[in-house]
Amino acid sequence: KPKKQNNMMVAHDMLTKLYHHLLINTEQGKEAYDYLIERGFSDDIIKNFQIGFAPNSWDFVSNFLQRREFNLDEMIDAGLLSRSEEGKVFDRFRNRIMFPIWDRQGNTIAFGGRTISDDKVKYLNSPETKLFHKGNNLYAFHLARPHIRKKEQLLLFEGYIDVIAATKAGCENAVATLGTAITPEQATLIRRNADNVIICYDGDNAGVNAAFKATQMLEENGCYVKIALLPDNLDPDDFIRKYGAEKFKSEIINAARTVMAFKMEYFRRRKNLQDEGERMRYIEEVLKEISKLPKAIERDHYLRQIASEFSLSLDALKSQQFQIFKQMR
Ligand code: CTP
Ligand code: MN
Ligand code: MN
Ligand code: MN
Ligand code: MN
Repeated sequence: KPKKQNNMMVAHDMLTKLYHHLLINTEQGKEAYDYLIERGFSDDIIKNFQIGFAPNSWDFVSNFLQRREFNLDEMIDAGLLSRSEEGKVFDRFRNRIMFPIWDRQGNTIAFGGRTISDDKVKYLNSPETKLFHKGNNLYAFHLARPHIRKKEQLLLFEGYIDVIAATKAGCENAVATLGTAITPEQATLIRRNADNVIICYDGDNAGVNAAFKATQMLEENGCYVKIALLPDNLDPDDFIRKYGAEKFKSEIINAARTVMAFKMEYFRRRKNLQDEGERMRYIEEVLKEISKLPKAIERDHYLRQIASEFSLSLDALKSQQFQIFKQMR
């Protein structure tokens, strides 16, 4: 019988194997398996990321754990089971594709479950438990770590599927924050393993704003940060499926920009620069961003870029930027 304090870990390990088996070998996992294949997953990827399936049942896992003499209260604390108001114990994850979340040694300590039906909750994750502190963890860190070290670069994504898609595309230095908000603990972990970070969040507004926040936190921790710009609100997985691995590497990852260059391109895509009024507003927006830069050489660099691009005098730009700078104080 497993040692008491390791019960939670043992249960997570057993369920990782059980869910994976159900996905790849059983009739009840077939719909989920077909869904994954349809989305471009391969058998190798499914195996490598230990992807599984939680059956559409209220008691499959609770019976499984009970038969193996796990303490059900402890399994509730572990976030694997739940208890109804009437006191009935039931499976927390039902009819979901299961992504194990590992600790730095590769032990499963939590799960993320994606619905394959029309459940309102697209992702159901394990709660905070004795084993799992979401903010201390980066998804797939133990898989990505050797690649991060070798490339001296880390690619940061929002979610499971983006990490998996990137890995499949040959970018194996990929981890995710699990949602958009990065924590100071995650930033510290990143800094200890990589000097260079490319943030590759979703191309929607939420993703872009989160990328700015993550940039600030990572720069404060001493990382060199670039942001990848995804077109048309696509996320990395969408992009890779639509345009392929090569384009993802050459046009997204290798074309990642410093935060200032990213902002310039991002504003630009929202404006018609042929229109004089919009062009002037674009320049003002950029001057405002330049005013936030702490280093004089950086400010100078971007002022010169704008001056040459729009055939403006550097002196005029500098004096206007100084006006904006004073207003911002
Ligand atoms: N996420 C979460 N809980 C949610 C929504 C999202 O934990 N309710 C996390 C998941 O790790 C998810 C990531 O945020 O992978 C990104 O969310 P989203 O972009 O909505 O999902 P995708 O990863 O794009 O999933 P899919 O392509 O299957 O829609
Ligand atoms: Mn704790
Ligand atoms: Mn998103
Ligand atoms: Mn997404
Ligand atoms: Mn997606």
